[in-house]
Amino acid sequence: MEKKSFRHFLKVSDFQASEVREIFELTEDIRKNPGQFDHRFARKTVCLLFEKSSTRTRLSFEAGVHQMGGDTVFLGGDSQLARGETIEDTARVMSGYLDMVIIRTFGHDRIERFAKSAEIPVINGLTDGHHPCQALSDFSFIGKEFGEIKGIRMAYVGDGNNMAHSLMEAAALLGVHLIVATPPGYAPDRDVLRWSTEQARKNGGSITWMSDPMEAARGARVLYTDVWTSMGQEAESSIREQSFAGFQINREMLSRAESDAIVLHCLPAYRGKEVTEEVLEGPRSRVFPQAENRLHLQKALMLFCSRKG
Ligand code: CP
Ligand code: NVA
Repeated sequence: MEKKSFRHFLKVSDFQASEVREIFELTEDIRKNPGQFDHRFARKTVCLLFEKSSTRTRLSFEAGVHQMGGDTVFLGGDSQLARGETIEDTARVMSGYLDMVIIRTFGHDRIERFAKSAEIPVINGLTDGHHPCQALSDFSFIGKEFGEIKGIRMAYVGDGNNMAHSLMEAAALLGVHLIVATPPGYAPDRDVLRWSTEQARKNGGSITWMSDPMEAARGARVLYTDVWTSMGQEAESSIREQSFAGFQINREMLSRAESDAIVLHCLPAYRGKEVTEEVLEGPRSRVFPQAENRLHLQKALMLFCSRKG
């Protein structure tokens, strides 16, 4: 059987550390000389199949494809998938029309099923389990900010959700010391924790999981948080607000971190909940350049996933 010459990207742990570093190098080339990549997606059509809301992921992928000379098609919640066509049939049909698909959906098993039947690269634009494009972009951004990634101490404070999982996997590959603080009942997935802890050890980093957010923040150079209520969990929003009290990134938590610490958030942010207005708009916040970085990183990622050989 002919070997497939492309790559899917469903979770960070699909890649080796050397491949992540290769993508980061390409990201820097693209950032410095975007014009050199003007035609790299010429005659390519990329579909964004999104079953959840999006601002950044949709726009950064669509702009990235257009800037490299390709076309995009956005398919929201009104495809035949919503009327019961199987994921497998959809993947086979889409493979005949398209060169790549970016999927945002609910259960991570949905994108895995799609990828198994697809003959084109499939990139995860967020599932309930993972948000790998965001995490790769964030570590490339951290590298640009500090001039290094390996050995950086970072605290993720909040829900043990898709964002936490992808940050854990990326930190593990890149030798970062990541401390994840979650309230009881909101721990990250055990398998992700086990995999990340083992990989981090091999790569000179560490993954620590605890329930004390102030302790996690101590000495950190990166403070990271995400929403307390992810898409699809809206019914739990008031109970979650109670559970996450004390997990807000505010002036006091920032004072525990290093003096040159930066504050990151994948956005959208809910001011007064997971982060205060003062911190989000303050001098340590980098959330808007962080969001911009998605464009550069994802161009590199699309080139990496679609290349032959
Ligand atoms: N951070 C992120 O993925 O944002 P969107 O939900 O707006 O795509
Ligand atoms: N954890 C959030 C991330 C949004 C970008 C969610 O899944 O809604």
